[in-house]
Amino acid sequence: MRTQVAIIGGGPSGLLLSQLLHRRGIDTVVLERQSRAHVLGRIRAGVLERGLVDLMIEAGVGDRVQREGIPHDGTVISHGDEMFRIDFTALTGQPVTVYGQTEVTRDLYTAREAAGGILLHGVEGVEIQGADTDTPSVSYTLDGQRQHLSCDFVAGCDGFHGISRKTIPETARREFEKVYPFGWLGVLSETPPVHEELIYANSERGFALCSMRNANLSRYYIQCRLDDRPEDWSDSAFWDELRRRIPKPQAESLITGPSIEKSIAPLRSFVTEPMRWGRLFLCGDAAHIVPPTGAKGLNTAASDVHYLYNGLRQFYEDGDSEGINRYSEKALARVWKTERFSWWFSKLMHRFPDQSEFEHKIQLAEIDFLRSNTAAQTAMAQNYVGLPY
Ligand code: FAD
Ligand code: DHB
Repeated sequence: MRTQVAIIGGGPSGLLLSQLLHRRGIDTVVLERQSRAHVLGRIRAGVLERGLVDLMIEAGVGDRVQREGIPHDGTVISHGDEMFRIDFTALTGQPVTVYGQTEVTRDLYTAREAAGGILLHGVEGVEIQGADTDTPSVSYTLDGQRQHLSCDFVAGCDGFHGISRKTIPETARREFEKVYPFGWLGVLSETPPVHEELIYANSERGFALCSMRNANLSRYYIQCRLDDRPEDWSDSAFWDELRRRIPKPQAESLITGPSIEKSIAPLRSFVTEPMRWGRLFLCGDAAHIVPPTGAKGLNTAASDVHYLYNGLRQFYEDGDSEGINRYSEKALARVWKTERFSWWFSKLMHRFPDQSEFEHKIQLAEIDFLRSNTAAQTAMAQNYVGLPY
C-alpha cells in the first residue's frame, strides 16, 4: 500500500491532521493500535482554545462544537473559602469552549468515515523505516498479516507511549522532563455542575478542580498520592474530600451521584527536541506532555497539527519546503510557552509533599497577587485562552 502521509496514532492529533489534509486532497492512512470504542472511552481534556475550534471548522467538523460547546468567559480560582474570578473575555476578548476530547474525537471519526478515509484499528508492531531518507515507510501487523505502507512523510501522533519518538536515535534527540510528586484522581458523574464556570481550588488539603461537560455531566478532580489507585477511593470518599477542598457555599450545594468513570493520571512535564527527524514529524503527546492544570495538553497537540498541516500543504501545493523545514522550531517555540504556563499553574495550585513553610507563604502571596493585579490576571488569561499560533 502507498499513501502520501502515514499517520501513526488515531487520537485527536492523528485524526485532525488526517481530516485537514484530506480537505486539501492530500492522502493519508491512519494506523491506530486500539479499537474505536477504547479511544472514545478515554475521558481526558474538556476545554478547547479558539485555535482548536477554528481548526475543527477548517477540517469541516466544526458544526457540533459550535452548537453544543459551552463558551466560558472566565474561570474561578479559590483558596480555602476565598474565591475570585478571572474574566477571559474582558481581559483578552476571547472565551474558551467546554467540549470533551471524546466528542472532538467522535466528530473526527464520523468525518473520516464519511469521506471514506483509511483508518485502521487494532494494528500491532508498528515500525518506521527510512525516516532519514526520501523514501520512508511503515510496517505493521493487522489480523496476523505483516503489512507495508510506503509514503512521503510519517506523522508520529502516537502519544507519550508510542513508538515514533523512540524511532529517532538517542544521539539525535534530547529529552527534558519534570515529574510531579502527586496525581489527579478524576470522576465523571451524571450530575449538574456545582458552578457555571470551572473552579480551580487551592486548599490546605491539596488541589481540586470542578469542571463539566454539559448541564448534566460534571467532571471533578482532586490531587491524590502517586500510589493511590482508583479502587482505593469509594465515591463517597471522593465527594467528601472534594467538599473539603472547595469553598463552603459550593461544598454545600454540590450535587453528588455515582461515578461513571474514575481514573488517576500522573502529572508530568516533558519535551523532546527536535520534533522532526528527516521525514518523521512528532505531533502532540508523542513530543510533549504538560501537567493537566490549565487544560493545555489537547490544545498544544492542536497547535502542532496546525504547523504540520500548513507545512505539508505548502509542500504539496506550492512545492515549498519552508514550512516543514521550520516545523520543529515553530512548534517548539509555542510548546515551551505552554509548558511554562502549565508548570506555573500547577506549582501555584497544588500542595507539594516537601513544600516548606516559606514556599507555602510564597504560593499564598502569588495567589493574592493574581487576585488583586490586573496585569497578572491578563497574563494568566492570555495563556489560558491560548497563545497565538
Ligand atoms: P493521544 O490522545 O495519546 O493519542 C495517541 C494515539 O496513538 C492513541 O489513540 C494510542 O492508542 C495510539 N498509539 C499509541 N501507540 C501506538 C502504536 N505503537 N501504534 C499505533 N497507535 C498507537 N489534557 C487536558 O488538557 N486536560 C485533561 O484533563 C487531560 N487529562 C488527561 C488524562 C490522561 C490519563 C492522559 C493520558 C492525558 C490527559 N490529557 C489531558 C492530555 C490530552 O488528553 C492529550 O494531550 C491528548 O490526548 C493528546 O492527543 P494525541 O492525539 O497527541 O495523543
Ligand atoms: C478539565 C481538565 C483540566 O485539566 C482542566 O484544566 C480543565 C478542565 C476537564 O477535564 O474538564
